[in-house]
Amino acid sequence: MRARLGILLSGRGSNFEAIARNVLNGKLPCEIALVFSNKPEAAGLQLARDLGLPHAAIKSAGVERTAFDAQVAALLKEHRVDWVCLAGYMRLLSSTFVSQFAGRILNIHPSLLPAFPGLDAQYQALTHGAKLTGCTVHFVDENLDNGPILLQAAVPVLDNDTVESLSGRILIEEHKIYSEAIAWVLRGDYRIEGRRVLKI
Ligand code: GAR
Repeated sequence: MRARLGILLSGRGSNFEAIARNVLNGKLPCEIALVFSNKPEAAGLQLARDLGLPHAAIKSAGVERTAFDAQVAALLKEHRVDWVCLAGYMRLLSSTFVSQFAGRILNIHPSLLPAFPGLDAQYQALTHGAKLTGCTVHFVDENLDNGPILLQAAVPVLDNDTVESLSGRILIEEHKIYSEAIAWVLRGDYRIEGRRVLKI
């Protein structure tokens, strides 16, 4: 049976779109069971609508984290989601949520973790004077932008870069490595030793 992905997003949804394209063209052997957003107005949700994919939104503003996450987990279970892919989901997950999908939540972050976790990672890299930054796909644990790293791609920081130009070049790599990482976990030929994700 094909694995069922749940995509969680809060905004534009370009990573979701890249994943969806690879599912539709057969490069990723899975289906998108649900696209969920904590922001009903997210552009990524409209994209899911346009693609005819199952989608749902619950406003998170003002809702207590554990209670909100319980609703999200229930929705994902209702749609029989096997793997949760955070794609610009700008919300911390409660430890209860993480434990319900232990080892089956992935995230993409626009820096070479552990450098520059949190918000505005591209701005952080630029203002820190980093010469190299990039993006990371990692398993999610209860800490922010933490968890064993699956794949990374490096992107040079150019002297004339702005946050926008740097973010744009990082995004091109994000769209590649997220699908590669999903393909890898779906094949299942990895093992985790401490923080290391190794090929088997
Ligand atoms: C991406 O750059 C992603 O790496 C970042 O948000 C953007 C979402 O873009 N995520 C984080 O910063 C998570 N800490 P998208 O909506 O076009 O995929």
